[in-house]
Amino acid sequence: MPSHRIAVIPGDGIGTEVVPPAQRLLDAAGERYGFSFEWTELDWSCEYYARTGRMMPADGLETLREFDQIFLGAVGYPGVPDHVSLWGLLIPIRRTFRQYVNLRPVTLLPGIDSPLRDVPAGGIDFLVVRENNEGEYSEVGGRLYRGTDQELAVQETLFTRAGVERVMRYSFGLAASRGGRLASATKSNGIIHTMPFWDEIFRELAPEYAEVETSEYHIDALAGLFVLDPGRFDVVVASNLFGDILTDLGAAIIGSIGIAPSANLNPERDHPSMFEPVHGSAPDIAGTGRANPLGQVWAGAMMLEHLGHTDAARAVLTTMGKVLGETGVRTPDLGGTASTAEVEQELLRVFATLEDQEERA
Ligand code: NAD
Ligand code: IPM
Ligand code: MN
Repeated sequence: MPSHRIAVIPGDGIGTEVVPPAQRLLDAAGERYGFSFEWTELDWSCEYYARTGRMMPADGLETLREFDQIFLGAVGYPGVPDHVSLWGLLIPIRRTFRQYVNLRPVTLLPGIDSPLRDVPAGGIDFLVVRENNEGEYSEVGGRLYRGTDQELAVQETLFTRAGVERVMRYSFGLAASRGGRLASATKSNGIIHTMPFWDEIFRELAPEYAEVETSEYHIDALAGLFVLDPGRFDVVVASNLFGDILTDLGAAIIGSIGIAPSANLNPERDHPSMFEPVHGSAPDIAGTGRANPLGQVWAGAMMLEHLGHTDAARAVLTTMGKVLGETGVRTPDLGGTASTAEVEQELLRVFATLEDQEERA
């Protein structure tokens, strides 16, 4: 029986509340489909920082390297500045392990009403591929002359040809395997060096993927279209910051930031990938027991898919759809009254009732 060694970093706030329910459902999936997880929990977090002055041990990345995959909740909490918590853990993991694809599905699940008008069931179903290693999140820059009247802050957007090409090749390939349409998020009208470079590479690669129909949208107009006509998209490729903003918007149009998943993929598979929800540690609701665990569960389904357990991944998604569509058990972000624990119980119950292949399809 295959066993997968997974590093688990629940992190901060609701991260610690939504990770264990997701692990239990993944364990149930393993039992049913004939594999298992060997979880190693790492308490790296803002609390860890308060104790040690670091977000993770000095050899943290070396520790993670030994695992098959990483399952993350969320990091960042009031009391520790976000640039410390994020540059001390999340960003180095994404970069060191060359998780340059951040794959974020935007799919309206059964039973959820989009906040948008007139969206039929299944009317939103696309994927955002967010460049995850460079772009606007560059380390080139700094702050100078603090406390003087010349104080300034600067951060350069940095695109490398290799970095843009690899994420675009992934996106073209993904589009070719689905509906055959790829949209590029750009801002070539306003950002005179970097986005034209991005566009040029997009156009250079397009002829190699003749089966893919391409389009380009300015990011501001694209954000509007996510609201006005989300049904037109299949795969959208975006830079790091554009993709970040677009995917919180994507989460909103499918009903809640509490559902949306994210896979930080190392497509070459020479390092672990990392699976986490799109949302953060939600300090405003942490400790209330009302966090939606579905984003973490869906991230778990993406991990199953990456590990090759396609049937198990599909069963988890079917379970989520049934819980949402048939039982009415949901957390307050989706208009319900259930607790995290009640949603977990319902997920486990419904998962256990899935019977034949048809039900799992
Ligand atoms: P957030 O996603 O934590 O919260 C935004 C809003 O969505 C809040 O009102 C919150 O209550 C709600 N929400 C989020 N997840 C929910 C869930 N599962 N169920 C129900 N409601 C949910 O974003 P934020 O407030 O901007 O950030 C809080 C902290 O998290 C910051 O420190 C930020 O840097 C960090 N953060 C970390 C990650 C990560 O680790 N990948 C991602 C985003 C934000
Ligand atoms: C996300 C988060 C992070 C990002 C932050 C917390 C650095 O918003 O995973 O979407 O911008 O990548
Ligand atoms: Mn984000």
